[in-house]
Amino acid sequence: MKTFTIQPLTDILSYAHATLKESDTLIFEVLNPDISRGSYAGEHVTIENKTYLYRSYKAWSDLGELLFCRMLTPTPLSDHTVAITYEKLDLSDSFHHSEEKEEKYGTASRFAALCKNEEPAFLSPYLRALRSVKVGEKKRILNLGINTGDEFDLIRQILSCEEYAKLELIGIDHSESAINHARERFSEGNATFYVHDINDLNTLDLGQFDLIITIGTLQSSGIDFKPFFMSLIQNYLAKEGAVILGFPNCRWMGGEMIYGAKAPNYPYSEMSIVVKDIYYCKKYLQQKKFRVTLTGKDYLFLTATKINPILRYNG
Ligand SMILES: C[S@@+](CC[C@H](N)C(=O)[O-])C[C@H]1O[C@@H](n2cnc3c(N)ncnc32)[C@H](O)[C@@H]1O
Repeated sequence: MKTFTIQPLTDILSYAHATLKESDTLIFEVLNPDISRGSYAGEHVTIENKTYLYRSYKAWSDLGELLFCRMLTPTPLSDHTVAITYEKLDLSDSFHHSEEKEEKYGTASRFAALCKNEEPAFLSPYLRALRSVKVGEKKRILNLGINTGDEFDLIRQILSCEEYAKLELIGIDHSESAINHARERFSEGNATFYVHDINDLNTLDLGQFDLIITIGTLQSSGIDFKPFFMSLIQNYLAKEGAVILGFPNCRWMGGEMIYGAKAPNYPYSEMSIVVKDIYYCKKYLQQKKFRVTLTGKDYLFLTATKINPILRYNG
């Protein structure tokens, strides 16, 4: 088995790429990160006259993700070394390749296996966004691209039964199977779901909302992002309303959420489109006197709340 001691990461990367061209698995021996906890990547660690460059498990996990591999449980090889094992992901196992329209994200799709609320890099910024808009104080909440309702489920989990019962929740999606499932999950009587194209919201006569949430939906093909977003804010957001927009910056493949959105015409993840769209929304909302924050990593959350004019005046 190959052992890495003081070789730089560039050498390890070259070795990894060359090995993964020939094989589905990659194994090598390195310093056990537990031995020098608190060191930074690249610090020299000498044990029994042998020097290693330190790297944490987080660094090894990041490398696995960058190589489109899953990292298996490291196995101890000696008192101070472990074997790092990576296994290639099955990149064809993904809903991203589906040619379906309405049912691309339906209950029979591979997308239905995802539970984003169980991914820390999704859950944590989404929770923060819900708390920063004070979701429990919002009466009418609209979610566009609700799918089977996970985003409402989290709201239900973090509020008390009394707080939750006071909300009026509306979820819209063009996937009939996803909406049917959402209807079964939310039987308390305060949630309404529509199978509907969100390009045609006018015909639903929805009124205005205190909170609009839309995650991973506005950048879908078939939605003209800028005019759609402007019309949403102008026609459906109440005067003191708040907005949570979630922009995926990841791909789901072979059971993993892999950092970085795939951009057309690039063989690697490229962020120009997502940054352009986020910047557009941020500027637009700031002009309309919203306080806007941007958080997250694999999912980027733009959260906008109205600036209180009295507080603003008093500084
Ligand atoms: C990437 S999924 C995101 C679903 C959910 N918000 C999430 O993050 O897990 C996009 C959702 O938007 C829905 N969608 C896309 N375009 C739509 C449209 N024009 N009208 C209604 N729903 C649409 C899809 O069916 C799908 O459920």
